[in-house]
Amino acid sequence: MSISEENLPYKEKIELKSWPNSTDIDSYRKMHGKSLENIEEHWANVAKELDWFKPWDKVLVADPQPPFYKWFVGGKLNASYLAVDRHANTWRRNKLAIIWEGEPTDSSGNPLEVRKLTYYDLYREVNRLAYAIRSKLGLRKGDTVTIYLPMIPELPILMLALARLGVIFSVVFSGFSAQALADRVMDAKSKVIFTADAFWRRGKVVRLKEVVDEALKGIQFVEKVVVFRRMGLKDTPMVNGRDIWWDELLSDVPMNTYVKPEEIESEHPLYILYTSGTTGKPKGIVHDTGGYMTLLHATMKWVFDIKDTDVYWCTADIGWVTGHSYIVFGPLMEGVTEVMYEGAPDYPTPDRWWRIVERYGVTILYTSPTAIRTFMRYGDDWVKGHDFSTIRILHSVGEPINPEAWKWAWKWLGRGSVPFGSTWWMTETGGILISHAPGLALIPLKPGTNGLPLPGIDADVVDDEGKPVQGKRGYLVIKKPWPGMLMTIWGDPNRYIQVYWSRFPGMYYAGDWAIKDEDGYIWVLGRADEVIKVSGHRLGTYEIESALVSHKAVAESAVVGVPDPVRGEVPVAFVVLKSGVNPSQELVKELRNWVRTAIGPIAEPANIVFVSKLPKTRSGKIMRRLLKQVLMKQPLGDTTTLEDETSIDEAKKAYEELA
Ligand code: WT7
Repeated sequence: MSISEENLPYKEKIELKSWPNSTDIDSYRKMHGKSLENIEEHWANVAKELDWFKPWDKVLVADPQPPFYKWFVGGKLNASYLAVDRHANTWRRNKLAIIWEGEPTDSSGNPLEVRKLTYYDLYREVNRLAYAIRSKLGLRKGDTVTIYLPMIPELPILMLALARLGVIFSVVFSGFSAQALADRVMDAKSKVIFTADAFWRRGKVVRLKEVVDEALKGIQFVEKVVVFRRMGLKDTPMVNGRDIWWDELLSDVPMNTYVKPEEIESEHPLYILYTSGTTGKPKGIVHDTGGYMTLLHATMKWVFDIKDTDVYWCTADIGWVTGHSYIVFGPLMEGVTEVMYEGAPDYPTPDRWWRIVERYGVTILYTSPTAIRTFMRYGDDWVKGHDFSTIRILHSVGEPINPEAWKWAWKWLGRGSVPFGSTWWMTETGGILISHAPGLALIPLKPGTNGLPLPGIDADVVDDEGKPVQGKRGYLVIKKPWPGMLMTIWGDPNRYIQVYWSRFPGMYYAGDWAIKDEDGYIWVLGRADEVIKVSGHRLGTYEIESALVSHKAVAESAVVGVPDPVRGEVPVAFVVLKSGVNPSQELVKELRNWVRTAIGPIAEPANIVFVSKLPKTRSGKIMRRLLKQVLMKQPLGDTTTLEDETSIDEAKKAYEELA
């Protein structure tokens, strides 16, 4: 089911000859090779198509030295200007920017709440909010704030208002717990938090403001919490002097308020986004403005072939990087009409998404393997009869897409005829780097592949020594800097060097296993480190272990990801209890809940296996690889570094008893 080195359909090629940009692999590779001869010229040609207040002096500067890079140095621009002013001043002012659906429906499944915002509406809202944020909250360029909001139009409006002022924001996914939120607020030292009273998820009211209050219990430096009334709950707790309603903040700001967008240096941080790594707390990935917007512009054109007639829908949550890049900044910069949906994909019925596709005539759908597998599970009856004829491009993101899921989506949603790729990238890369490019030059599809790197992207697969390998599993690396790349880790430049640029000197290390096939297509197989992808969401097993050992009953823990037919991977925890504590079903429940509370529901272990010791090397390193093999019932391979063989036998037995 999941993709591995052995079962890739390398040879299966699907040519879409009638596609206007259809091309052969050799021509694409030639073009790609040419783009790498002079990446500065290549990217400067893309950047020229943005509106700059001041042109750059230098395309690329290593500053202070590699691996720190600055793009379009000397140039000034504004992401909010690109996303709204540019359109509000043209014929697009009356074009729909966002079509938003809330989750609740009537008894026949029609949405009870729909909001449609034109580019002019968006322009007004962004300006008014920017004004209020500057004049009433006193926020200025370079300040940091945290955003903890659900999928409502106010979220992109707020991000654009902050970008207009040069205020650096950190969006925290609304499914994260109070503890996870607190960690991120502290790391970013945000003085202001933006949130909502509550939102709908699978028919339930999720009360967000209470989570913020909980998170802020131990934090003194937060001065203001701005609360949007999404539900209009009467009993939302408000702290006197600290908390303020969003509508009150805006109440006396005139409709026609204009805030001149700050002229932002290209390398000024647009945002921080926290993501999980191998060890330690989540890292604050810092993105610049000029390079980032340039990569988004390129990929909106090349990967999505965006046209003014399109209705675009990226089904991600803005709390993750996909939403930042491909719901907020990318599509709005291109003047796209896009769909935004608040709730669960299968609520109230498993065809909720297909009704949305039909209702608005979605033409470009960007979604995830885990969503596709969920819909596959519900069966063909839920897709049969729905009209997918408007869809002309499909793409997937977040984790490898197994060929079965690819084929199912291509058959039903793509009617066996549209370009459908699996776009590889990560929080750190800012935007898509490896993907089919139907807007530029479309090479044959292969079910499950990521395809060739985009022009200007020097991606490769290398062995342990950093030498290129083909037809064999290796590590994915990027050999040249690209616009949109992370600038650093917030407050921790050394960690930036160590995590991404130390494994193979001079190359960006992605942390993924991949294969390059005989055509040069790249197939990312999954993470090569202690990171797992649960329903496409990135989690560090280390974070789950830390949460577990903070429970009074737990002495030690090792968490591994195991394949799951729908969610891709799920965490399973091996737990050593403190002496005197007895394992029980109650304790299993309690520990699972404990992790939910510490991180969020997505991190909850699917299983907890109690053992008396963990398999370790002689130097004391936990051998998670062996535990994973136990769970997957695979041969163990080399166990010579194992200190105590009985630890593995015990883990095996404990797991078998559980199953
Ligand atoms: C990791 C990054 C990029 C936005 C969402 C994820 C995996 C992502 C693919 C794909 C195979 C993929 C990788 C990567 N990944 N897209 N199309 N095929 N794997 O961003 O949360 O930072 O996760 O997601 O393992 O390293 P992220």
